[in-house]
Amino acid sequence: MSLKAIAVMASGRGSNLRVILDAVAAGNCPVDVQLVISDKAEAQALDIARAANVPQVLHITPKDYTDRAAFDAACAEAIDAADCQWIVLAGYMRILSSPFVRRFRQRIINIHPAILPAFPGAHAVDDALTYGVKVSGCTVHLVDEVLDGGPILAQAVVPVLDDDNCESLHARIQAEEHKLYPATLARMVELGFHFDGRKVIWNT
Ligand code: GAR
Repeated sequence: MSLKAIAVMASGRGSNLRVILDAVAAGNCPVDVQLVISDKAEAQALDIARAANVPQVLHITPKDYTDRAAFDAACAEAIDAADCQWIVLAGYMRILSSPFVRRFRQRIINIHPAILPAFPGAHAVDDALTYGVKVSGCTVHLVDEVLDGGPILAQAVVPVLDDDNCESLHARIQAEEHKLYPATLARMVELGFHFDGRKVIWNT
């Protein structure tokens, strides 16, 4: 298995997938996107992947499976068949089942639009605004069985302005996501990391 082969799972707009593919094409991110999976037929991420000639682009429909574990098992089969070392979640809005997380322990990466451990969950940008924080940002982290609770790989901070709404704050956060995610994936395959407790230490 190539240690650079990644599968991307995405449910929506796919801007993070796009910047990863752009960084790969520009020679700035030495990963190899072998597979893109979406749970949503209408996800723009699917079109972005097809336009970039990703070898396998799959829409897997949750309704075709009896439960979450069965759906996740189908995704896992596709990931293993494509020989992917890493699973990169890019706006993937389904909670992963425990068997899936265990199968790919410390090989699943997510980006979250808040400075974890503040504001986990599906409404992070709104929750941060409602709380009234003065800074927010994004977190790239490993996925474990706690929602948005895995070891942190990288974070970037943005200011929250008095007149921000969800859209304006999310746009500012996404500008940082688009730099942080490809850079972190590059570091991951070029340097690697180890652990000190739950703390991630980047190899030098
Ligand atoms: C990103 O902002 C990402 O942080 C967020 O969804 C957006 C996807 O954007 N992820 C989550 O909220 C996961 N809990 P994209 O589809 O344009 O990459």
